[in-house]
Amino acid sequence: MSVIRLIVGGATGKTGAEVVRYLAAQGDLQVIGAVGRLQAGRDLGAVLSVPSLAGVAISGSVSQVAAEADIYLDFTLAEAAVSLAMEALARDLRLLIGTSGLDARSVSLLASEASRRNLAMAVIPNFSIGAALQRRMALELGRRYGRVEVVEGHHRTKRDAPSGTAKDLMSALEALGVEAAVHSLRLEGLVARQEAWAGGPGEVISVIHEVTSRQAYGAGVAMAARQLMGASGFFSSLAELCPALGPGD
Ligand SMILES: NC(=O)c1ccc[n+]([C@@H]2O[C@H](COP(=O)([O-])OP(=O)(O)OC[C@H]3O[C@@H](n4cnc5c(N)ncnc54)[C@H](OP(=O)(O)O)[C@@H]3O)[C@@H](O)[C@H]2O)c1
Repeated sequence: MSVIRLIVGGATGKTGAEVVRYLAAQGDLQVIGAVGRLQAGRDLGAVLSVPSLAGVAISGSVSQVAAEADIYLDFTLAEAAVSLAMEALARDLRLLIGTSGLDARSVSLLASEASRRNLAMAVIPNFSIGAALQRRMALELGRRYGRVEVVEGHHRTKRDAPSGTAKDLMSALEALGVEAAVHSLRLEGLVARQEAWAGGPGEVISVIHEVTSRQAYGAGVAMAARQLMGASGFFSSLAELCPALGPGD
């Protein structure tokens, strides 16, 4: 079994930490380095209380990580992700970006550098497998009813609105010629919830997906990392990168 080695930016953040805990339990995936500011210089295993990660250093930047890797995974913040990803490309690492709110210009800058270096790259607004299935169902609603309205709700500290997941669904619906609208809620008590609504004469239908804990993202990240190793080009959703989830569009 060949092992996929990852450097994780934001490994001590709320999402990064849950994802790293999941990855640490996978035999074929190995977190060999972490990037963060406040905990730089500390041991990731000690910070996250995961014994199998003992010896993995937290560095202040991707270029400071000593060990060789295959993939750079980013769960930082939009303003940090682009320069960290550029450092990763300079090290010839494939990119798996989970951070949301990157502007189109930055994504296209990263994509052209990745393509110049012949490295696969994915910017995935939602790593949850349930969310990928909801996306497929929402596209089906669009095909049948011609109009879909999406209500997405997140915790109050989420900076971007609409969410990257909702924006991705909007573009996929519009590409199918479906009318689409999005409404955003930012409320205490919510983690991440998205409901896609459609209606026809005498009926309405909605498909709900809700993340109740950030544990939801680990399996999708692992699936994406495995798929990225044999892939080439640019991917903008989990479903696009992982054919097992079906493109739906
Ligand atoms: N794609 C998905 O499925 C998905 C799911 C959930 C969240 N997200 C996105 O993931 C991102 C992180 O969310 P979160 O809630 O986990 O945020 P968070 O708890 O604030 O974590 C952010 C992490 O990034 C690190 N960081 C920030 N700036 C940095 C820099 N300049 N250099 C190095 N590290 C830096 C922080 O480290 P320090 O504290 O040490 O600075 C922290 O570990 C957000 O964009 C969020 O929308 C995506």
